[in-house]
Amino acid sequence: MSDAQTLDVVVAAIEQVTPLIKHFTLARADGGTLPAFSGGSHVVVVMRGALRTHRNPYSLLSSPHRLDTYEIGVRRMEESRGGSHFMHEKLQVGSRLEIAHPVNLFALAKIARKHLLIAGGIGITPFLAQLEDLHDGAAPYELHYSVRSPEHAAFLTRLREREGGWLRMYYDSEDQSIAFESLLSDQPLGTHLYVCGPGGLINRVITTAQDLGWPDSHIHWEKFSAPPVGEAFEVFLARSRLSVHVPPEQSLLESIEAAGVEVPYLCRGGVCGFCQTSVLEVDGELVHNDHFLSDADKATRKTIMPCVSRARCKSLVLDL
Ligand code: FES
Repeated sequence: MSDAQTLDVVVAAIEQVTPLIKHFTLARADGGTLPAFSGGSHVVVVMRGALRTHRNPYSLLSSPHRLDTYEIGVRRMEESRGGSHFMHEKLQVGSRLEIAHPVNLFALAKIARKHLLIAGGIGITPFLAQLEDLHDGAAPYELHYSVRSPEHAAFLTRLREREGGWLRMYYDSEDQSIAFESLLSDQPLGTHLYVCGPGGLINRVITTAQDLGWPDSHIHWEKFSAPPVGEAFEVFLARSRLSVHVPPEQSLLESIEAAGVEVPYLCRGGVCGFCQTSVLEVDGELVHNDHFLSDADKATRKTIMPCVSRARCKSLVLDL
C-alpha cells in the first residue's frame, strides 16, 4: 500500500460518542461502493494539514455486509502528535479525506472452535465489525469489554442490542477488572483469543495466555499506537540521493514520505513487515521498536522497519 492507491472519501456524519471518542462515517466521494473488507480490517487515513501530513490507521467498525459507507472511531489522544487532533478539530461533515484500501491484520481464525474477545477502551472498534461475522458463524463467542467508567463505554447501546448474553462489561470506576487468569484458564480446547486496546492490557493478556500454555497461533492482538519519539538524526536515501532530517516527534517513515519518497506500508505499527528497508550503513545504534524482525534479523544491523524504528547515530544510509 502507498498513497498512490488511496480512495477519495467525504465525511458523511460525525458523532461524539464518549467524552474522548468521535464516530466518523465516510462515504466515497464519487458516490460509488467502497471495497469489501472483513471484520478486523483497518484503513490508513491520510490527513493533509497545512504543515504536515498525518497517516493514522483506524479499525473499520461498520458491518462488512454494508459497503455504502465505512465507519471508524477516533479517540482523542492527550499526547497527540497531530493525527487525532486533526480528526477531532479539523473535520466537519462534508470534509474530504483520502484513505488507503482496507487491510486485515486482525482476522478471525476460521478454524476456531470458540472466539474469546477482550477489548479495552477504543480497542472495541475492530470487534464491532468482527461481531457481524460472528453472528453468522457456528462457533460461540464471548466479548469482555473494559472501560474506565460508564460514560467512556463507546457503542454500548449497539452492543447491548446485538450481543445480549455474550457481552460482559467491566468499569474501572466500579473496581471491576477482568480476571485474566481464570478467564483464560477456563476455555475449551480450540478457543482463539483476540485482544485490542491499550498496550498494557494487550501485554498482560498475551503474557497470561502464554504462561497458561496457549499456543501463539491462537493469540491475536492489534495495537495502534503512535511511533515512539527519540533523538533527531539524519538519514541519506542512497537511490533517491536525498538527505532527510528526522525530528524527535516524527517517525523515520513519516520523514521519508515528507521528502517525497514512497515506502510501501500496511500497518504503520511495526507488525506487518511491509515497510522493511535495507540499511546500507549506520555509524551508531538502530533502535528497533517493531514486532516483526527476529532478534537475529536485528543483530545483522542490515534492516529496519521505518514506521516505528529509528536510529541513534550521526549517519544512517538506507537503500531507498
Ligand atoms: S508498515 Fe507494517 S511494519 Fe511498517
